[in-house]
Amino acid sequence: MFQTDVLIIGTGIAGLTTAIQLARKRPDLKIRLVSKTAKDEGNTRYAQGGIAAVWDRIRDDFEKHVLDTLDAGDGLCNEEAVRIVVEEGPSRVQELIDWGARFDKIDAAHYDLAREGGHSESRILHFQDVTGAEIERALLDKCAELENVEILERRFAIDVITQHHLGYNVTRIMPDIECYGAYLLNLQTLEVETHLARATVLATGGTGQIYRTTTNPLVSTGDGIAMLYRAKGHVENMEFVQFHPTALYRPGSENPAFLISEAVRGFGAVLKTRSGEAFMHRYDPRESLAPRDIVARAIDNEMKTLGEEYVCLDCRHLDREKFLAHFPNIYEKCISVGIDPLEQMIPVVPACHYMCGGIKVDLQGRSSIARLYACGESTCTGLHGANRLASNSLLEAAVFGYRIAADLCDHIGAMQLRMDIPEWDAAGTAHPREMVLITQSIKELKEIMSYYVGIVRSNVRLERALNRLHLLYEETETLYHSTTLSAALCELRNLITIGYLVTRSAAMRRESRGLHYTTDYPEQRGFSQSTLL
Ligand code: FAD
Ligand code: SIN
Repeated sequence: MFQTDVLIIGTGIAGLTTAIQLARKRPDLKIRLVSKTAKDEGNTRYAQGGIAAVWDRIRDDFEKHVLDTLDAGDGLCNEEAVRIVVEEGPSRVQELIDWGARFDKIDAAHYDLAREGGHSESRILHFQDVTGAEIERALLDKCAELENVEILERRFAIDVITQHHLGYNVTRIMPDIECYGAYLLNLQTLEVETHLARATVLATGGTGQIYRTTTNPLVSTGDGIAMLYRAKGHVENMEFVQFHPTALYRPGSENPAFLISEAVRGFGAVLKTRSGEAFMHRYDPRESLAPRDIVARAIDNEMKTLGEEYVCLDCRHLDREKFLAHFPNIYEKCISVGIDPLEQMIPVVPACHYMCGGIKVDLQGRSSIARLYACGESTCTGLHGANRLASNSLLEAAVFGYRIAADLCDHIGAMQLRMDIPEWDAAGTAHPREMVLITQSIKELKEIMSYYVGIVRSNVRLERALNRLHLLYEETETLYHSTTLSAALCELRNLITIGYLVTRSAAMRRESRGLHYTTDYPEQRGFSQSTLL
């Protein structure tokens, strides 16, 4: 058995920020972070556009950022959460800078603030077009300086430990479920380790891998949300899956799909059909810079109407030198696949990008399970509502990481290690003889979700998806109970759970709102509850 004061599952911006904030405030606490692959792999490393914050207080103000966020969220944001993130955001960004994160400047005193869809002002701090990689680097460097923080790589969290593992019947309506740590599969020894903790934090990132085309890396399989749901915790708003309008189109599709940042449209690029006709003015007066749900749906409609596999992003009128300075990574990628973005239009398609729903948490990052916190993309804090405003997620993770650390400082004294936890029981399992069963089921899941639970939905499609998912679920549970654990099997199980949660929540929402669009209720509004009990 392994013991620590605080166990943090995930080493993206959410997990690392929580650890740093807590370690600085409480050097007496032992903090252990774990990641399922390399410590820098996760959505954070891929973030391009930047982090939104009200920085230029002459042109911009909190109220504008709040209104933009509420507008994108289409009536489902929790205004208190929005105000907290917007108002505390600049201090958290200043801390990132103090810890060594670099952001581009226009001169020694002023940051280069970019504009993205749905923002009424230029307020995105960025480091070229690789902001996430720079933030991740700075946070890992900062963690390495802190003596009470350790990071264990290649530890796959299987399940959080609750009274269920002590033999009690735990139900979703029980008010006093408690978390005592987690079972982790050590991917080097293939042993299941029991990690006991006074408090546990889920910071496991996104769920993009439930779809065929996604900007999310392979680790984004929704493990934290699935673990919490299995432990009978509450999740919320899972139907609101954000599709980014502009991933680079590649025949045969790459996994992950390469993102062409929204900042490129903020810089002046225009969406056009393959024949070169601009079309966004037919959908929204903000044209190519309308919020993502509108742009992604418009592209989906154009592709279906014209029978095309992609639309194009036209950058040919932009200044070459400035484009290269701002988007070196995007430029390099395009060149590597034979496209000079300043000579040819870039072929783009919508791709699954962000999960707006997730583990339901309060304003201190506490989940419905005692001693179990969560932050980052795996959560639903109320900030995003039915659609996330661009570049608000890195900010949300930094703000809630800080809040969790503050709450833990106040309450960890009352949380003691529980020592009577049994070791993982692997009796009756054998090595899998047919890995193809797992890989084929993952493929099937992605097909179901992409065909039936994509940008445009309907009752019939959702019902068909639920039936197919049920079959996959039953087959996978049988496999799970008879097979030695592997990361692939655990991920398959989690992906099916996430697919189910998205589809079930979508079926429950009998209206179109934000990212959830259904042909059965194209205009209707009114229903607004999707916590899955
Ligand atoms: P992640 O960074 O995804 O980290 C998850 C961590 O959890 C990883 O360490 C992983 O190993 C670990 N983990 C997961 N499951 C397990 C398990 N079972 N056991 C152990 N460890 C586990 N947002 C913005 O605000 N601005 C942007 O410009 C922006 N651009 C983006 C571009 C791309 C291509 C993508 C994919 C996302 C972008 N986003 C952007 C969204 C943003 O990057 C993410 O929402 C944010 O980084 C999530 O951080 P996180 O810490 O919650 O999760
Ligand atoms: C982008 O750079 O377009 C991504 C920004 C985001 O997802 O917030």
